[in-house]
Amino acid sequence: MLDNKKVVFSGVQPSGNLTIGNYLGAIRNFSAFSEEHLCFYCVVDMHSITVRQTPAELRRRTYETLALYIACGLDPMKNNLYVQSHVPAHAELSWILNCYTMFGELARMTQFKDKSAKNETNINAGLFTYPVLMAADILLYQTELVPVGADQKQHLEMTRDIAHRFNNIYGDVFVVPEPYIPAEGTRIMSLAEPTTKMSKSDENENATVRILDPKDVIIRKFKRAVTDSGSEVRFAEGKDGINNLITIYSCFTGKTVSEIEREFEGRGYGDFKIAVGEACADALKPVQEKFSELIRDKAYLESTMKSGADSASYYARKTLSKVKRKVGFVI
Ligand code: TYM
Repeated sequence: MLDNKKVVFSGVQPSGNLTIGNYLGAIRNFSAFSEEHLCFYCVVDMHSITVRQTPAELRRRTYETLALYIACGLDPMKNNLYVQSHVPAHAELSWILNCYTMFGELARMTQFKDKSAKNETNINAGLFTYPVLMAADILLYQTELVPVGADQKQHLEMTRDIAHRFNNIYGDVFVVPEPYIPAEGTRIMSLAEPTTKMSKSDENENATVRILDPKDVIIRKFKRAVTDSGSEVRFAEGKDGINNLITIYSCFTGKTVSEIEREFEGRGYGDFKIAVGEACADALKPVQEKFSELIRDKAYLESTMKSGADSASYYARKTLSKVKRKVGFVI
């Protein structure tokens, strides 16, 4: 609890153009907490440099991610919206928590294994200790709830382990957070390879639908989505491509799987793919319109990220001083 409110924290890396996976699995769920909770939504630029970035692009995407937060309904007056590197307490706490995290547990992280396989020439220490920085993000604000997609579950478990370990030594310093993973949309799959997660860093353009893709591009990508050789729109084991499209359609329209199956009975995959594309494009339209207004106003984005960072720093300092005192630093 901070200011008598439960705390919610989440973050998105500005390391690619955000996809409908990021939207459905995470960002669109964020604003539901704004009224009742104290919310921190961070653009986690320090996480992004664990994989090599082009500096100008990273900077541009940092602005874009903040603008997308707002375009997706996050009011900067009701949420702390800020950039991770603007609050140095994240890096400070991360160092301390590194000393309470075991080599063996980091080596078991599936994201580390995946990312090191994809970046064989740059398996840096930051990539390895990435989950510790994530634990610092969360624990710094005494967070109770962390809305994320299913792929972040293992990192959340590690955050909880680190918090427990620290608390066992020093008393109740950290709140132990819970993941908030809704039933739907938490694992949107690639349109090109529906057994793998849709990822913003995928180099295959047809694999991902970006939040900012124009309508014709969205429809084209769905038309090309890989499906099986059947034609019946039915959610079934082994039909990963069609199952993914049904999930996406359901998320954007609010219809249940059986309603969707009935709607497309006897109509084939072709019709269905166009309907998914249209539902997706229509749902994203207001977000895109708001985004294009915001992105032109750099001064507004800068003042938003600054006040977000000032306010986040205020709360972060409280936890950090407590942690420093507990471990025996002279403060
Ligand atoms: P990132 O930037 O990869 O993704 C941001 C959010 O989007 C979700 N997500 C998905 N959900 C459903 N289907 C998909 N295909 C899909 N792809 C991504 C992710 O689960 C995430 O919620 N490590 C985090 C960023 C982070 C963070 C944190 C999150 C850093 N510190 C503290 C929560 C709390 C990440 O890489 O997210």
